[in-house]
Amino acid sequence: MMFFMSQTVFQIQSTLIVLLMSLGIIKRKNRKLHVPIMLTAIVWDIILVLQIEFTRSAIAKASKAVENSTILNVHVALALTTVLFYFVMLHTGRKLLKGDSRIRSKHALIGKITYLLRLATYITSFFVVTR
Ligand code: HEM
Repeated sequence: MMFFMSQTVFQIQSTLIVLLMSLGIIKRKNRKLHVPIMLTAIVWDIILVLQIEFTRSAIAKASKAVENSTILNVHVALALTTVLFYFVMLHTGRKLLKGDSRIRSKHALIGKITYLLRLATYITSFFVVTR
């Protein structure tokens, strides 16, 4: 029951983060909105990964039955790659704020890839939870 509860809470947070990130992309030309929205989404998402990680290790210890399916591995790899890309977005975003507009196309391209990775993480999450 506790397991189900936390999975649901994680999925709700994940949905809100994807929606927030979509809003941030819609507002990509408005710095005053884009920057705080993306910062919130990134920080929240990293906190979500940590919440899941700590709960999972607790569950693994309690049940001793650690499942290791291909889709779970794919999902975890996507989630970790997404977090790595967040740091690239923070770096290129900060440069843009400092006035280095040569990095704009890189920020835009890596931004699209990061968003696709986050969507793939979201989609695969539905295949690894609650069973
Ligand atoms: C996953 C996170 C992010 C994504 C997907 C993303 C995506 C984008 C995209 C697609 C653009 C439009 C680029 C263009 O002109 O074609 C943009 C612009 C911009 N982004 Fe991000 N971004 C992210 C995070 C950040 C962060 C964390 C910062 C700041 C620290 C930032 C700062 C900016 C700035 C300053 C612009 C230029 C806005 C303007 O036109 O004045 N972004 N971003």
